[in-house]
Amino acid sequence: MLLNLEKISKSFSGVRVLEAVNFDLKEAEVHALAGENGAGKTTLIKILSGVHTDYQGVIKLGGEVVRFKSPQEAAKKGIVAIHQELSLVNQLSVLDNIFLGREIRKRPGFVDYRAERKKAQEILEGLGLRLNLSEPAGFYPYSIRQMIEVTKALVQEAKIIIMDEPTSALNQAEVARLFALIADLKKKGCSLIYISHRLEEIYRLADRITVLRDGQRVGTSLTSELPPSELVRWMVGREITQQFPPYFAGGGSEKLRVSNLFIPDPSGLKRWVIEDVSFCLHQGEIVGLAGLQGSGKSELFHGLFGSLGQKIRGEIHLDGRPFISHSPQESIRKGLALLTNDRQAAGLIPSMNVIRNITLASLKKFSPRGWLQPTQEKRKAQEYVEKLRIKLRHLDQEIQTLSGGNQQKVILAKWLETEPQVLLLDEPTLGVDVGAKHDLYFLMNGLKAAGMAIALITSELPELLAMADRILVLHRGKIVAELSHEEATQEKVVQAALGGCLQEGQKTHENGKLHARQLTGHEKNVR
Ligand SMILES: Nc1ncnc2c1ncn2[C@@H]1O[C@H](COP(=O)(O)OP(=O)(O)OP(=O)(O)O)[C@@H](O)[C@H]1O
Ligand SMILES: [Mg+2]
Repeated sequence: MLLNLEKISKSFSGVRVLEAVNFDLKEAEVHALAGENGAGKTTLIKILSGVHTDYQGVIKLGGEVVRFKSPQEAAKKGIVAIHQELSLVNQLSVLDNIFLGREIRKRPGFVDYRAERKKAQEILEGLGLRLNLSEPAGFYPYSIRQMIEVTKALVQEAKIIIMDEPTSALNQAEVARLFALIADLKKKGCSLIYISHRLEEIYRLADRITVLRDGQRVGTSLTSELPPSELVRWMVGREITQQFPPYFAGGGSEKLRVSNLFIPDPSGLKRWVIEDVSFCLHQGEIVGLAGLQGSGKSELFHGLFGSLGQKIRGEIHLDGRPFISHSPQESIRKGLALLTNDRQAAGLIPSMNVIRNITLASLKKFSPRGWLQPTQEKRKAQEYVEKLRIKLRHLDQEIQTLSGGNQQKVILAKWLETEPQVLLLDEPTLGVDVGAKHDLYFLMNGLKAAGMAIALITSELPELLAMADRILVLHRGKIVAELSHEEATQEKVVQAALGGCLQEGQKTHENGKLHARQLTGHEKNVR
């Protein structure tokens, strides 16, 4: 065995989050680590990679006991973790990032940039990338920065690479590239620990699966011997026979009408990301928005919500009255809410407690005469914790100490608390475990039944097909198709998303996801 974790336990301020967990890794193996939000996956790999140094138990690397005091020490022994919050220094060049702390030197004090360049280029080429090594790392989009992290790991001759939910910020083309890379790394003899909430990814990549629940190991199995239904039972401890709630037709009177909307490119390029788009949302209806990366669907939400300033053109009516919003604050006041797909920038205040993060967007309600009413705030927060099954120790806990998926639930609670009439959801199930996804679908249907108008973006097509009353498909900023719940199929959605230019017999989707190669502007620069 290459690596053995034996009886690893870990507490945060006296609270156990890992309890005598065993885990092992073979050479050239992909071992998936699965489990519900808050099960302890990230904590376990942070121990292994030297981030958390205070733990009980033993780590053996090639039979030798090791105890890392820092990520650098772990890296020296060939263990590198790629966390969701990437560790690159955005202002530094790609090259400096790759060799940060382990520069190649000709003699003391002199960095051998030529040797560094050569080595970096070799590795990058192996990954199918050509980057400008002098460019600041921050210039590149997330997916490329992730690849730079991988390059960094390979420069350190990592034998064990750990990836914690690496695909949550990637589009389908980028996911495909990452998967090819993983296969390649495996061939070269690297071993990987892979964490994901997307079961199809686990089944595609992993040789073995280990499941954690409430800080304990439920079991380890060969992937081929653990059917998905069993994996789900291991994770959530109950049977989930029906992933989606039964569909019921929704739709009442018109709530939001958008006419001839134009939205300029937020990055300043002279073009429209949304061009002459018209549609409406009804009360008690879930409208799905589909489209490839770059189709403009997220920008459409931001434009409606007022986060892009005044630069949008066109008409919006809410309840038949002209709706103009100059800022998110104004939109919230007028009854709109937007859950963005980016947790970090989503208005979450990491060092504030859970209560305040939930009430953040509706503080007015909790301060009728200008004074906050802490008891009410707390009661409300408690309600959401129960309703959404948010896993935490106490409400005063800083949100940054919650697991990733539980942070996502807090953000959702925040938006629900604004009691919106129109709820815009951009990838609401991102990083959310199977059980919680299930809960979320039922919750959405409850909101729909109560008359809320909901627009939903999700890259999981089955989710879209199961939940939406109608699906609007965007292609390059325009609506190219509208499909009713009854007529929508994966093929039709994908075909429309590709601009209706699909060749007969062309592979349209893989694992139920939009799966087409469309280079983004950035990628074009990179290639
Ligand atoms: N710095 C910290 N302080 C206090 N508690 C923490 C800290 N980091 C993690 N925890 C707690 O440890 C538990 C396990 O969290 P962890 O992040 O390992 O879960 P996870 O399995 O990665 O979940 P997810 O799928 O949501 O990312 C959670 O209850 C979390 O709140
Ligand atoms: Mg995690």
